[in-house]
Amino acid sequence: MKILLVDDSRFNLITAEKALMESNIACDILLCDSGLKALDIIKSECIDIILLDIEMPLFTGIDTLKEIRQQRCFDGMQVIMFTSHTDKAILKESFKQGANDYVTKPIELIEFASRVNAAIRARNHDIRLQELLKSTTNQNIQLTELANQLKETQFHLINKEKFAAIGELAAGVAHEINNPMGYVSSNLETLKKCTTNLNSILTKYRELSQHITKQEKSSSELIVMSQDIAELEKSLHIEFIVGDIDSLIEESREGIGRVTRIVQSLSRFARTGLEEEFTFNDINEIVEEALLVIRHEAVDVAEIDLDFGSLPNIMCNRSQIGRVVMNILINAIGSIRSQNRSENGNIRVKTYSEENDVIIEIGDDGPGIDSSIINRIFNPFFTTKDVGQGTGLGLSISHDIIVNKHKGQILVDSENDAGTIFSIKLPQS
Ligand SMILES: Nc1ncnc2c1ncn2[C@@H]1O[C@H](COP(=O)(O)OP(=O)(O)O)[C@@H](O)[C@H]1O
Ligand SMILES: [Mg+2]
Repeated sequence: MKILLVDDSRFNLITAEKALMESNIACDILLCDSGLKALDIIKSECIDIILLDIEMPLFTGIDTLKEIRQQRCFDGMQVIMFTSHTDKAILKESFKQGANDYVTKPIELIEFASRVNAAIRARNHDIRLQELLKSTTNQNIQLTELANQLKETQFHLINKEKFAAIGELAAGVAHEINNPMGYVSSNLETLKKCTTNLNSILTKYRELSQHITKQEKSSSELIVMSQDIAELEKSLHIEFIVGDIDSLIEESREGIGRVTRIVQSLSRFARTGLEEEFTFNDINEIVEEALLVIRHEAVDVAEIDLDFGSLPNIMCNRSQIGRVVMNILINAIGSIRSQNRSENGNIRVKTYSEENDVIIEIGDDGPGIDSSIINRIFNPFFTTKDVGQGTGLGLSISHDIIVNKHKGQILVDSENDAGTIFSIKLPQS
């Protein structure tokens, strides 16, 4: 503890120094005979307590005190006014300017020691407080850093889960795309043959028309020519071809539409779901889109029954909700598949609106979830699947999307051997 004694009287300084030593107060003592010198000293020395004579020529104790209190770096310094004044107005002014205490002259040893000791305690508390503040600030910085790292990790995990799911779906989606592409390309092949045949007939008709225009052939010759054309039409099945073209084009168009929709759904699903892009959406449309991408997973595993209610459009993030529906559907299909049944299982997707919510219910007649683990299924990394089979992130990400991002609810109702129903409730506004 460093104590600075400031008094223009040499006698007072010596007396105060003696009093400090006699009171066995462990401290370094510095003496100085003017307020201005005191201000210089406190700039270079780390002074904890200053005893400041009020009555000094030119620059008084109160002037010095004002200067000290104007600088934030001296906030923690304890200032004790040293005075022979008993004038209450002067003491009041001292406290107003930020003095912590006062002692009276001539020094009364017991009073002097207890006031200085009280200042030492206050100063020690202040130092401790500053240390605590510093360590709390440091901890805050570390916590912010940790929170940022966590955010980054979460981002990577979400992407990892997403791409694992895309990987899982890729084979099925490839099939969904290949199938329409197969008949579109075979239709194109057929159309090419059709045009070749139609071109041959067209050439013949043009020849006939030229002969008629130029009047080079007799009418009997022209009749023979047109009979030949009719024969050719028959052999090239032109009537059948003309009747078929429309349906070939229609079928191809529908196939291309399906591929486009699958690719769009998949690319929406693959987009970084973190962006806060909220728009008005028809939830039935989102569910249909999700079904389009996962439908192939259900082949030979489960029938999917749909029961779509009429819903108001609601504000939501389309790709995030799509991912949640897909996660739950994939879990439902997986749970039924794990039973290796001889017959297909059943998945029921129902949407309806209720008071202020839109609800998506996805139920399966799979093995159900054991009551001993049901409280943990939304925890990150919780999985009952074999290593490499599940990430354990699908439901935790879905929970985050529904509860935190959409202020909705995701509920599960399940019993052993009686299947599972997940309900997603999304607020209408
Ligand atoms: N429909 C369901 N039927 C039975 N168990 C389920 C169903 N949905 C989820 N679960 C359980 O919840 C766990 C966590 O699911 P999830 O977070 O999607 O991770 P993962 O599918 O990678 O295991 C699953 O491993 C499974 O035990
Ligand atoms: Mg899953």
